[in-house]
Amino acid sequence: MTVEQFPIGVLISGRGSNLQAILDATERGEVAARVVAVISNREDAFGLERARCRGIPAVTFPRRDYATRQEQQAAMAAELQRRGVRLVVLAGFDQVVGTALLRSFPNAIINVHPSLLPAFGGGLHAQREALDHGVKVSGCTVHFVSQDVDAGPIILQAAVEVRDDDTEESLSNRILAREHRLLPRAVDLIARNRVRVEGRRVLIAPNQD
Ligand code: GAR
Repeated sequence: MTVEQFPIGVLISGRGSNLQAILDATERGEVAARVVAVISNREDAFGLERARCRGIPAVTFPRRDYATRQEQQAAMAAELQRRGVRLVVLAGFDQVVGTALLRSFPNAIINVHPSLLPAFGGGLHAQREALDHGVKVSGCTVHFVSQDVDAGPIILQAAVEVRDDDTEESLSNRILAREHRLLPRAVDLIARNRVRVEGRRVLIAPNQD
């Protein structure tokens, strides 16, 4: 299999701007992977449209269709495996990932979070928490997903300065712009087999090209 074929699945719950960034980057040839499935736990997630526009299968797994979240995520995992996915990318996915997905994709699930972890992890309002805390620098993190929420080994981070006149919206927008570059970059590094995990540390091999 050539690196260009490295199949990834993207899990979303809403807007899907990070999904869009991955799709655009793959189309520009900047990411050595292709999105073979987009999966959402919410039927109204706008990101589903973004996928369908590109002819990418977009499948929903509504919570009400399953007795437990574990069963719901087991169904997602089965769909991803059926499509040959080698890396699962959480891009604004609002569920905690349980053992069904973790066991199906060991060390092969990554997430983007809008703060410099380990600060402001564990929630869905990291930018608000950063502002409330008064930090001068925040940013975003791409990390491997483990059983502990937002605590897996860190692959890439980018810092974003917090300005005195920032609102939650203005800070979120600047962080999001950095996410859109960081997440595709992390996918590319993994697709090119340049990422190695040693305990908590993620080592990135130099580019051989
Ligand atoms: C992004 O800012 C992402 O970092 C955040 O949700 C947003 C999704 O935007 N994720 C989390 O907070 C996870 N804890 P998008 O749907 O436009 O990609």
